[in-house]
Amino acid sequence: MKLHPSEIIKKKRGGEALSEAELSFLLDGFLQGQIKDYQIAAFLMAVYFQGMTSEETGIWARLMWRSGVSLPRKDSGEFWVDKHSTGGVGDKTSFLLVPLVHNVCRRLFGDGQVRIPMISGRGLDFTGGTLDKLEAVPGFTSDLEMETAMGLLDRNGFFMMGQTADLAPADRLLYALRDVTATVECVPLIVSSILSKKLAESLDGIVLDVKFGSGAFMPEFSRAQTLAHALTRVAREEKVASVALLTRMDEPLGFKVGHQLEIEECADFLAGEAREPGLQEVTLALAGQMVCLASRGKLSPEQGRAECEQELEKREVLTTFIQMFESQGGRWKEFKAQRYALGGRPRVSLISKHSGYLAKLDARSVGRLVRNLGGGRLTKESGIDLNVGVEIRRKVGDKVQAGESLLDVVLSEPHPQVATLLSQVMYEVQPAAVMRPRWVEEVIDA
Ligand code: URA
Repeated sequence: MKLHPSEIIKKKRGGEALSEAELSFLLDGFLQGQIKDYQIAAFLMAVYFQGMTSEETGIWARLMWRSGVSLPRKDSGEFWVDKHSTGGVGDKTSFLLVPLVHNVCRRLFGDGQVRIPMISGRGLDFTGGTLDKLEAVPGFTSDLEMETAMGLLDRNGFFMMGQTADLAPADRLLYALRDVTATVECVPLIVSSILSKKLAESLDGIVLDVKFGSGAFMPEFSRAQTLAHALTRVAREEKVASVALLTRMDEPLGFKVGHQLEIEECADFLAGEAREPGLQEVTLALAGQMVCLASRGKLSPEQGRAECEQELEKREVLTTFIQMFESQGGRWKEFKAQRYALGGRPRVSLISKHSGYLAKLDARSVGRLVRNLGGGRLTKESGIDLNVGVEIRRKVGDKVQAGESLLDVVLSEPHPQVATLLSQVMYEVQPAAVMRPRWVEEVIDA
């Protein structure tokens, strides 16, 4: 039977489920240029309103994945695991998880048994990107050829790289269309977009950090929950063991926001010098789940977490963290020297007008502050200042005195609008004590 794009779009517009043959016809035709952008844009809008079944979402994700190459695997009994976060303000757990989970798994399961191929993205709008943060270390490159990446995975057991042109290329084209047709916020399209890239990593297991709250790209808890369920369901259908954590993103994670500052915070965290409880909680919860998956059912997430807590007390995790940068060209000593050289940078504080307890320090407005100071990008092409950021002085639940700093902006050079931008940061101080938020709200593992 001959297929017609407009008939397929009409079927989806009417709320019907499409077959693998129909979806594959659309995607192949689009990639080969026979089906036009405007037809796919109409299809995406139909999906936006009518959704996709779980089966359709899986098929669409698989087709997008197979539009490109996958990381090559030898049949050697290894377990490949990764973490994906939907992104937030001050989210720096990847830099802690790679060395931590690597060291724990090497100790528990033996050298080379568990590998972490981490493919990440850049920041856009008010959230920072993993690749941009890594590049705060001079010389670091995330732009790796497949052969180099596989060599690193073999030797070190991990790498951190950006998406290459031949990994899930359909996602890049579809995402660009979604971006300009108001079809980004659509669960099946998000699920297929995320999983097409993760399936290309040839993983055995994945831990998904699905954020909700003001600084998350999906602020409403119930929508983030729907996304988390859909992600785990489709990953499992594709034979990837998966678990999702719904984590809070109402205030920034950790003490620092900004590229260079976040890498500094991770080094201090691993050195045991400054461990913000929220960052510690989210990192250990994710790490415990990664170790649990990698143990193939031998350890519970709680046991995995306990192993990670024990590992954090050792100096070796910091050594592996530094190795993570140096093995991809990063000059760690130069980064450290730069940290001290920049110690006297201009700072401007956000001063609390009231005494009491901090009830809110809005993540999205802090993310926007850093972006507007030059530390974020509004379009994919913009350059960014890796040195600007904020240091958070008070976390939600902390006691505050009027006149104290809630956060300090750290600048590369004096900024004429800093006072105006600071006044846009939303915070609340209440007279009565405020409960500290629970960072991990729910674990979805079935
Ligand atoms: N992240 C992705 O990779 N894709 C989406 O569609 C949304 C977030």
